[in-house]
Amino acid sequence: MFYLTTAIDYTNGSPHIGHAYEKVLADVIARYRRLRGDETYFLTGVDQHGQKVQQTAEKERVSPEEFVKRTTQKFSALWEKLDVKYDGWAETIDERHKHCVRTILTELKDQGQLYKKTHSGHYSVRQEQFLQDRDRDESGNFGPEWGEVVEIAEENWYFKLSDHTDWLKNFIETNPDVIIPHFRVAELLNALEKNSGLDLCISRPKERLRWGIEFPFDENYVTYVWFDALINYISFAGYHAAPGSDLPDFHQLWPSNKRPVHIIGKDILIPAHGIYWLCMLHAMGFTDEQMPILLVHGWWNIRGQKMAKSTGNVIDPNELSNQFSVEAVRYYLVRDIVTGKDSDFDLDRLVMLYNTELANELGNLCNRALNMSQKFTAGVLNIGGPLAEEEIALQKSLTDSIADYQKAMDEFDISKGLEALSRHIVYCNQYAERMAPWKLAKDPANTDRVATVLYHLAESLAHATVLISPILPDAAEKLASQLNRPDLTALKLSDLKWGLLTDGHTISQPAPVFPRIVLEKAD
Ligand code: ME8
Ligand code: MG
Repeated sequence: MFYLTTAIDYTNGSPHIGHAYEKVLADVIARYRRLRGDETYFLTGVDQHGQKVQQTAEKERVSPEEFVKRTTQKFSALWEKLDVKYDGWAETIDERHKHCVRTILTELKDQGQLYKKTHSGHYSVRQEQFLQDRDRDESGNFGPEWGEVVEIAEENWYFKLSDHTDWLKNFIETNPDVIIPHFRVAELLNALEKNSGLDLCISRPKERLRWGIEFPFDENYVTYVWFDALINYISFAGYHAAPGSDLPDFHQLWPSNKRPVHIIGKDILIPAHGIYWLCMLHAMGFTDEQMPILLVHGWWNIRGQKMAKSTGNVIDPNELSNQFSVEAVRYYLVRDIVTGKDSDFDLDRLVMLYNTELANELGNLCNRALNMSQKFTAGVLNIGGPLAEEEIALQKSLTDSIADYQKAMDEFDISKGLEALSRHIVYCNQYAERMAPWKLAKDPANTDRVATVLYHLAESLAHATVLISPILPDAAEKLASQLNRPDLTALKLSDLKWGLLTDGHTISQPAPVFPRIVLEKAD
């Protein structure tokens, strides 16, 4: 089983384009793995507890329950709209999740992995949090943004993170492949060095935070939101599920010798996933072979700036897909970023990439293959006469393109996979220009030749339909139906051999799949 998860999104606001990117990326990877023939389980969801949610709910004068219900709906509605199809949905207020978190807390306590300790320090009343030295300004003071700062002592529960950091350092050094991309390994080892000896505070007294999972053995405390949220990856996979639960069979999803893939953004590698989560799993007895792969994606920025609600610097994926179509948004989000790196969100590039690669290249191939077949061979494909050098070369271009696509997609590099596909589409359109079947058709002596050329275009289109299906499932269905082969979208990569379309196959009527985007000028 290929078990794939994303970060679970905070429900203290509305989804933005960064959230949409991560979920579309995961959806594309899940669909691609199915295309490869891997049995796949894709989990995503929402992170509903914690201080931020409690504060925002208070500001809006609703209960946190009511508030997260509302915001959660915005996320799930968006995934439905963007055709993000998951197998499991994680909500941290779910009783099944709370049961798992409490069971883990009890186990860790019984194993001596948790202890209670009093911490004294500077506390910001306004922000309701303890401050660290890094929160001081240049002159060594806590700035006005923290409001009143008082020294208080507070008792809390701690997890013995420091028991596991030597193991973690050694594990990462000997298994650097669990962190993708590779350049993040050094960052993580660096952070580990700095963190050494520190334990993790995993509780909050109820006087300061009520909106969380209550400790099973100390009713005055709730669980720190990260400790709660990280556990979603196992709770919704059936770990410690109550008897008779409808959750998946944990050992099937996450066997003791197989790594799941967690897709996360670069901001939550250190310390949350790279340190806390791996140490938590180790404390729970997960084996080295079972530790997850962390696929760390970069960020979408806007004109070089971080996206931020406070400056109005956000892109709403709902508005964007209303304006340009879901297909255009899905395509752009995985096409114009290299997995692992940052990218600048640019509407001109969205329009340019859609118009060039979908409307002009793939759309044109579809048009030509199907329209000309209707016109010159009455909608019936046939292989025609003997193949020329040109056809041998075209078939090789396709084979190369599929190999490059597969290699890139196996490495989670969707942009490169799409480039590989686009290379063959461009090749086909140039082949069509050179062969000019519209000219050949003027002489009945060329009947076989015309058929051969059109067959090669249509057969390439059939392959392209399968290859584009993880990225644009809806367009792939339309293409398959125009080819009169709706079953194409159920094929596997290993079925992609020349001859998907048989001699004598009748195609359907063509209709534009990728209408050009025409921007109205503001002036
Ligand atoms: O961090 N570009 O939630 P979150 C790309 N609840 N990705 C972005 C982005 C951007 N501009 N902004 C955010 C949380 N993301 C926690 C996760 S997991 C157990 C708990 C990504 O809503 C971000 O990196 O702040 C993260 O992976 C995801 O969106 C959710 O961010
Ligand atoms: Mg965040």
